[in-house]
Amino acid sequence: MKAQKIAMLGTGLIGDFYTMTLHGQRNRDSVAIVYSRSKERGEAFSKRWNIPNYTTSIEDAINHPDVSVVVVALPNHMHEEAITLAAKSGKAILCTKPLARNGAEAKRILDVVEKAGVFAGYLEDLCYTPKTLKAVKSVKAGAVGDVLWVRSRETHPGPHSAWFWDDKQAGGGCIIDLGCHCIEIIRNFVGKNNRPVEVLCWRDTLVHPINAEDNAIALIKFESGAIGQFEVSWTFRGGMDLRDEVAGTHGTIWMNHFLRTGFEMFTAAEGNSYVAEKAEASTGWLFPVGDEVAELGYVDMFSDMFHSMEAGTQPMETFYDGYVVNAIMDACYKSAESNGWAKVDLDWRGGSTPRISSKPQTFEGKTIIKQETLPDGRVKLILKDPNTQEFTDRIVATVNA
Ligand SMILES: NC(=O)c1ccc[n+]([C@@H]2O[C@H](COP(=O)([O-])OP(=O)(O)OC[C@H]3O[C@@H](n4cnc5c(N)ncnc54)[C@H](O)[C@@H]3O)[C@@H](O)[C@H]2O)c1
Repeated sequence: MKAQKIAMLGTGLIGDFYTMTLHGQRNRDSVAIVYSRSKERGEAFSKRWNIPNYTTSIEDAINHPDVSVVVVALPNHMHEEAITLAAKSGKAILCTKPLARNGAEAKRILDVVEKAGVFAGYLEDLCYTPKTLKAVKSVKAGAVGDVLWVRSRETHPGPHSAWFWDDKQAGGGCIIDLGCHCIEIIRNFVGKNNRPVEVLCWRDTLVHPINAEDNAIALIKFESGAIGQFEVSWTFRGGMDLRDEVAGTHGTIWMNHFLRTGFEMFTAAEGNSYVAEKAEASTGWLFPVGDEVAELGYVDMFSDMFHSMEAGTQPMETFYDGYVVNAIMDACYKSAESNGWAKVDLDWRGGSTPRISSKPQTFEGKTIIKQETLPDGRVKLILKDPNTQEFTDRIVATVNA
């Protein structure tokens, strides 16, 4: 295992979280140079994180001789330009979410890195939370049977910088900012080779005087018949709500990643300290997060990226995944515009997935629809006659009530 040397492009919130992760816990990988438009911010960031170099030139950061990996932590409208420059260097590129502002821009980015033949990883941290990784593993092992429905929710009181609120720079509102996480979480549970077919989306601007949406809900229909549902908002009060649910033919998973992690604290003392990302209060009842970068997936995400890079394999989250996410978000906007289902337009590489179908169990030649133990202890089967299509009840046992 070699130590990776990183060029960090951007000194904002995500540049901070990434560097906190990379420089945390006596890690072997480190940021060799940081790029910021402002010399003062670059210098302050490098001092804060003990980074040996800073620059106001993206090219100088990318081409620094120590650098093996370029991390794009810039606003959405800068991703294509930064990745195009980085691809020329032949170095590995990791880009934060969303990959781009729309599907066409994401496809151009994908083409650039594939043409250059460089390693490219999509930094979708919420697919790497320890809970999500374990849950996806259980789902792949068949613990919930066939996945029928995945619900992913991300809501908070709105982003922390001006550019997010400008749909020209960001590409949209809370769908682009938060829906991208939810979509990729959903894809990990329904299966990455399960083609997203069409989308039904509602979006509205309920509170803020902006062009972009500040609330949205969407349904994504997959080829297997499974449905993905996401709920996103920039108007939710009370912190950052990150929850996922998976429903399958044989099981259920519920996950709460942030406000309810099992760490609850009350303080009446003078507040004003940092509690957790997007927390709205620092006194009263608080919901801190133990190790924020670990619980949000950054630690496992960078480990997967660097291990894959060194092994010459694909990481769990690739630029192709980022492109699929952008294509689904394009369909969300089309659907909301047309008030109906919109097809997902994309260059699909995932093959085809059969429709969910379970082999029915039978009892005395009839199909078992359901078995239930009633409060009085009787065990009842609900049966369907395959010939007459008639439904009947049948008591098959009695247990202690
Ligand atoms: N969980 C996550 O994965 C996560 C969380 C937050 C943000 N992000 C993503 O990270 C990216 C950056 O977001 P952020 O929260 O760090 O934003 P931010 O506003 O906190 O920081 C952006 C940085 O880019 C710089 N910048 C702004 N405009 C620029 C320009 N035109 N040229 C060069 N530099 C410019 C700013 O000075 C700042 O250093 C976005 O794509 C965002 O979606 C990802």
